[in-house]
Amino acid sequence: MDMGIKGKVALVTGGSRGLGRASALALAREGVEVAICARGGDKLRETTDELRALNVRAFGYTSDLADKAAPAKLLAEVERDLGQVDILVNNVGGSMGTRDALSATEEDFIKVMDINLWSAVRLIKLAVPKMTARKWGRVINISSIYGREWGGPSAPYMTAKASMIAMSKHVAMSVAKEGVTVNSVAPGSIIFPGGGWERYMASNSKSVVDEFIARNLPMGRFGWPGPVGATVAFLASAQADLITGSCINVDGGQGHNLF
Ligand SMILES: NC(=O)c1ccc[n+]([C@@H]2O[C@H](COP(=O)([O-])OP(=O)(O)OC[C@H]3O[C@@H](n4cnc5c(N)ncnc54)[C@H](OP(=O)(O)O)[C@@H]3O)[C@@H](O)[C@H]2O)c1
Repeated sequence: MDMGIKGKVALVTGGSRGLGRASALALAREGVEVAICARGGDKLRETTDELRALNVRAFGYTSDLADKAAPAKLLAEVERDLGQVDILVNNVGGSMGTRDALSATEEDFIKVMDINLWSAVRLIKLAVPKMTARKWGRVINISSIYGREWGGPSAPYMTAKASMIAMSKHVAMSVAKEGVTVNSVAPGSIIFPGGGWERYMASNSKSVVDEFIARNLPMGRFGWPGPVGATVAFLASAQADLITGSCINVDGGQGHNLF
């Protein structure tokens, strides 16, 4: 299938490892020129090199998207090096710890909302008007199955990821006539080197991990990043023209929502 996005420019936030890296690689395999960002060093350089090895122009930027001013600076750097962004993948995020609603402080909520929701909102506000002006664009927001249903240990995380899905739907409706689609992806528990689930396995006994898997993961194993990247690349593609305002689970059946 020709995905029809060769030569487009993508920005994948938090693309140095995990789901962001898989998304960046999947886009680069389709001939997309890719910018990624992360706070730190070696993995960012390594992944940028992997992208360039796929014969596309690729740049890695050091950026802390928790900082309010960072999205504008990042986007200006990407536009300087690659041109205007056609495909925006808001991937950066995470739970930043385990807190239920009553023990989480206001600061906990703010920190988690800042990195998951506000970084995405700021980039959308900057990038989408330029997409609508060109009558083509794609926004893909990485949420979680715990943005669609109760689950996981963190109230701020659930709140932020549900907000991302709501925000995606709203933006999608606003730009539906302008050639720009906006969707979200809801991964289940995905394991990879340097990721949270690898740390979970290292810090829990085999019986605790086995019980988690038996209770939560219908396939009997953790998910892996490739299918998330492939879903992002498909949603970014010309073939996904009619898909907007949707949220797609990539979770091996882990999520319990019916719709
Ligand atoms: N893995 C899962 O099981 C899972 C499940 C559902 C949803 N998700 C969602 O999928 C997304 C990616 O998850 P992941 O597991 O791949 O995450 P991860 O291991 O935390 O990696 C996130 C990426 O973002 C970068 N990053 C983190 N904080 C940043 C910041 N403040 N500014 C800029 N870059 C930052 C990281 O690099 P640096 O650390 O060097 O900055 C890394 O490249 C997140 O939104 C997460 O909530 C993940």
